[in-house]
Amino acid sequence: MQHRVEKSMQLFQRACELIPGGTQLISRRPSRFAYGVSPVYAERALGSRFWDVDGNEYIDWVSGIGAIILGYCDPIVDEAVQEQIAKGTMYSINHELEVELAEELVNTIPCAEMVRYAKGGGDACAIAVRIARGATGRDKILFCGYHGWHDWYLAANLQTDASLDSHLFPGIEPIGVPKCLAGTAVPFPYGDLEALGNALDDHRGEVAAVIMEPFRSALPPDGYLTDVAELVREHNVLLIFDEVSTGFRPHISGSQGMTGVTPDMAVFAKSISNGYSMGAVVGRRAVMEAASEMFISSTYWSDTIGLRAALTTLREVRRRNVPKVVHDIGTRLQAEVTAAAIEASLPARCEGLSFHPHLTFDVDDRQHHAQLSTLFIQEMAKRGCHGYTSFYLNAAQTSADIDHTVVAARESFGVMAQGLKQGRLGELLECQQHIESFRRLVR
Ligand SMILES: Cc1ncc(COP(=O)(O)O)c(C=O)c1O
Repeated sequence: MQHRVEKSMQLFQRACELIPGGTQLISRRPSRFAYGVSPVYAERALGSRFWDVDGNEYIDWVSGIGAIILGYCDPIVDEAVQEQIAKGTMYSINHELEVELAEELVNTIPCAEMVRYAKGGGDACAIAVRIARGATGRDKILFCGYHGWHDWYLAANLQTDASLDSHLFPGIEPIGVPKCLAGTAVPFPYGDLEALGNALDDHRGEVAAVIMEPFRSALPPDGYLTDVAELVREHNVLLIFDEVSTGFRPHISGSQGMTGVTPDMAVFAKSISNGYSMGAVVGRRAVMEAASEMFISSTYWSDTIGLRAALTTLREVRRRNVPKVVHDIGTRLQAEVTAAAIEASLPARCEGLSFHPHLTFDVDDRQHHAQLSTLFIQEMAKRGCHGYTSFYLNAAQTSADIDHTVVAARESFGVMAQGLKQGRLGELLECQQHIESFRRLVR
């Protein structure tokens, strides 16, 4: 039988021979989707869609794992980048864009008085943590959420093997992380002010910073971030917001503009540059200035592609009022997908953040839950919608994309409801059961 993603699967087999783990990003592993049905390799993309190497077309509900905020191949960003390429992408000396982007960030982000750059979110977090340690002379970091792949973060699983379970996913072994880092990264649970207070007390005088995602799958509880900021300041500890996921969709200045809570430092990446590699660490002058005495240095951090892409993307996000655009699309999507589930008599809802809604299945059996998730991904892929059980929005998604997706969801929910009723969910799977993606905070 001809496989719908035959070429993708062949490529993945070749990749597994040559690339340990098969992919560079865990979120791109085919086991995260419907293995054997979902596409694994893209050939090209435009606007809200991509085409896989087998020629199938998809509406992309993953938006480049959040990096695509304006849409693929945005003409304005791409033209600006192409003009820049014609002038050279990097030089032996610096380029004015480095200062221009810093000015844009300082004018946009409440906590930003000084800026350093990086090429991705994990790198930017590592820089922020280094600066916090350097500025305070203390080693320990309290964290909540996902902050990339670096030693400082994975060290959390050295002392106990479950520290990252609810922030990343269970079972992460910190292989290759120096054991002497044990005890330097300490997790705290989201939404629990008392637990954070206890952690700060337990490690009094040793903590450089509290780094956290201000929110992830739902809005923060009322007053929570204000209370966190107050508590952290009382302990004379720095507060870092990792805004890699909250940057620019809820508000042009990320969570800070939305909640009014200003940390000491913040980290941005992904959507800052609409698909070009870029990251930024911003913060209060008094903290950031410490970096001038520290060795934090890399050749490509100030290449003009990332700088130009970020500057143009930020200006376009503001000019097109992208936060409102994605809020409106997401609100409609949530309502219509939930209505489709009700129509199909499937116990499911589409809820959460308007710019990144997710499905919840109201079933107690864990196996049924996992099967329903996989079946959804599988059936949606067959109907030209690529994604997890969530929808990451970008400004190129259209009303027609929503119409298509809601029809696909209604049909998929019909298949799932039948399977659930008849106890045949397993039989309906044409793929391996997908592996749960990063566990999201607050869920
Ligand atoms: C909140 C947060 N921090 C850090 C990262 C790591 O970013 P990158 O994959 O660009 O290194 C991510 C990526 O998903 C993220 O969501």
